[in-house]
Amino acid sequence: MRILVTGGCGFIGANFLLKYVPQLPDVQFLNLDALTYAGNPLSLQSIADRENYDFAHINLANDLEVTNAVEGFQPTHIVHFAAETHVDRSIKYPRDFLNSNVIGTFNLLEAARQVWGDNLSDKVFHHVSTDEVYGELGETGMFEETTPYSPNSPYSASKASSDHMVRAWNHTYGLPTKITNCSNNYGPYQFPEKLIPVMSLNALAGKPLPVYGKGENIRDWLFVGDHAEAIFRVMTDGPVGETFNIGGNAERTNLQVVHGICQAVAEISNQPVEKIQDQITFVTDRPGHDFRYAIDTTKIKNELGWQPSQSFEEGLHQTVKWYSENPNWIEAVKSGEYLKWINEHYQGESN
Ligand code: DAU
Repeated sequence: MRILVTGGCGFIGANFLLKYVPQLPDVQFLNLDALTYAGNPLSLQSIADRENYDFAHINLANDLEVTNAVEGFQPTHIVHFAAETHVDRSIKYPRDFLNSNVIGTFNLLEAARQVWGDNLSDKVFHHVSTDEVYGELGETGMFEETTPYSPNSPYSASKASSDHMVRAWNHTYGLPTKITNCSNNYGPYQFPEKLIPVMSLNALAGKPLPVYGKGENIRDWLFVGDHAEAIFRVMTDGPVGETFNIGGNAERTNLQVVHGICQAVAEISNQPVEKIQDQITFVTDRPGHDFRYAIDTTKIKNELGWQPSQSFEEGLHQTVKWYSENPNWIEAVKSGEYLKWINEHYQGESN
């Protein structure tokens, strides 16, 4: 296998590379990353000098550079992680999401089609996507692979669009594609704009914990290491042209998650939990805030034998501990772009 990964300096891509580059020394990996604000090469420091790993600074919006990189590397497998992913940012800057998620995916599909030509028998184009393409759920029900698409935010609309293109390139051109749609990921190396890293860092620093609305929205939490394994399983064993949902079987309200973080921080820093809980503040809700996401993982469990192995409480504790023990990584991501976002989005509330 020769695996070309896009967005390998981002959160999920980095966790995938950190797991499989050392584990598969005979497999060659190339990481294409635009190094936007959320991409941090420091996350990959431990594998950067390995002989089976290479990096190229490329933005997928540049079609020529993408085609040259795919041509030069001659991948057997492409795993497409690169995307703008933060819902709140998509509400403010929707154009960035179209450029990265729609145009970027189009350029990558076209590069694969051009370079692979008719030689498709041992090839896979794996597109990493989100459960948000299915819209929102009420109190009951779960997203299945057959749930109709109903994206609600500029972010999920851009991912839905990319999913549709991937599916169409399979149907029209016979490109050997696979799609996975995952629930909310958490774990080490997640950029501190998403719920768990924002709350963990603020709780550790004694700052306010900004809960949107009443904190009653529900997400299904998937540990990023479990997600990496599920992607690898689908990429190697899943049938071409298929979609698999990947979830953590761990539904929690946002308030439950924040209380879990308070508990973990209390244990790590030897403080009373009540003191940390006092930092919780309820702030203005996100516009169009999806109420609930939940994933039915029956298909991947029955067809590929995958299921999540990390319990949420254990994974959350491990994650909060990681944020408390990695000040160098945290300082490196707190660039001007990070501070600008925190200031304009929370208007000083969490900073
Ligand atoms: O479902 C998968 C999706 O999960 C991924 O495709 C997205 O890339 C990822 O961002 C995530 O979307 P969410 O909007 O659910 O994630 P986020 O971490 O932004 O928010 C999780 C919940 O926490 C959501 O109900 C909003 C709430 N929240 C978030 C932040 C950042 C707060 O209450 N306060 C906050 O400061």
